[in-house]
Amino acid sequence: MPANRYFAMVTGASTGIGLELARCCARAGFDLLIAADEPAIEAAADELRKLGVTVDSVHADLATLEGVDQLCAASRGRPVDALLANAGVGLGRAFLDQEFNRIRRVVDTNITGTLYLIHRIGSGMRQRNSGRILITGSIAGFMPGSFQAVYNGTKAFLDSFSFAIREELRGSGITVTCLMPGATETEFFRRADMMDTYVGTAKKDDAAEVARAGFEAMISGEGDVVTGLKNKIQSAVANVTPAAVLARQHRRMAEPGTARS
Ligand SMILES: NC(=O)c1ccc[n+]([C@@H]2O[C@H](COP(=O)([O-])OP(=O)(O)OC[C@H]3O[C@@H](n4cnc5c(N)ncnc54)[C@H](OP(=O)(O)O)[C@@H]3O)[C@@H](O)[C@H]2O)c1
Repeated sequence: MPANRYFAMVTGASTGIGLELARCCARAGFDLLIAADEPAIEAAADELRKLGVTVDSVHADLATLEGVDQLCAASRGRPVDALLANAGVGLGRAFLDQEFNRIRRVVDTNITGTLYLIHRIGSGMRQRNSGRILITGSIAGFMPGSFQAVYNGTKAFLDSFSFAIREELRGSGITVTCLMPGATETEFFRRADMMDTYVGTAKKDDAAEVARAGFEAMISGEGDVVTGLKNKIQSAVANVTPAAVLARQHRRMAEPGTARS
């Protein structure tokens, strides 16, 4: 174990924003422990090793406490310098049309698993008075997400939680940063069953650019980062728009049948 290198843990690193975050870490010289729920994580690890750092991978379900324990055990006691808690899942369609086991999985992955991981790794950081935490929230957290209601609620939770614990840790050697992407080109919308919606089919941000902004904000210890001018305007407007109006606007983006032709 090279003692002189920093060590980052990245969740949801098999694809999308998480894989790009892991690439940013590797290029900056962090050794990596990466995790996801499917075997594709091993292919990501093989690719990341080519960047010259040590990469271990864990195939675990981070919607469960056992899966999070498995990930923490895989660090083999090595102090985590940077935790990038990124794993997350979406779910489209009207709330009452969604299957409850999928609803619960969104909450368990995005909230429960994320909190448990941050609690475990954050405790070690507090003992050492040192660490960087990046949480992937979303600008979706600013809007009541009609036809994506539970997902947006989980991101509102994370956006809020991130600022709250950042304040609790102010003055310590630990910083907490919330990455708030807008719609980004990844597997996300296909997995969320939203390819018949406007947002699922519209042009989206580049995952590498989103991740780079998040990584840089984490390194410099910023509180949050919203990427891209359009998203910055959208989130600023959301802050002064009534919730009922935002929910109506969200319908136009996320209701099944709104896909661009
Ligand atoms: N794409 C967007 O428009 C957008 C916008 C704002 C925020 N975000 C957030 O960005 C984060 C990354 O999403 P993405 O867009 O990059 O989507 P993605 O390509 O679908 O990647 C999601 C990652 O999370 C992992 N994951 C999901 N559930 C998991 C579980 N239970 N246990 C372990 N790993 C799990 C996936 O691994 P497996 O494939 O192995 O399950 C995958 O590596 C999420 O938190 C998402 O909410 C995305």
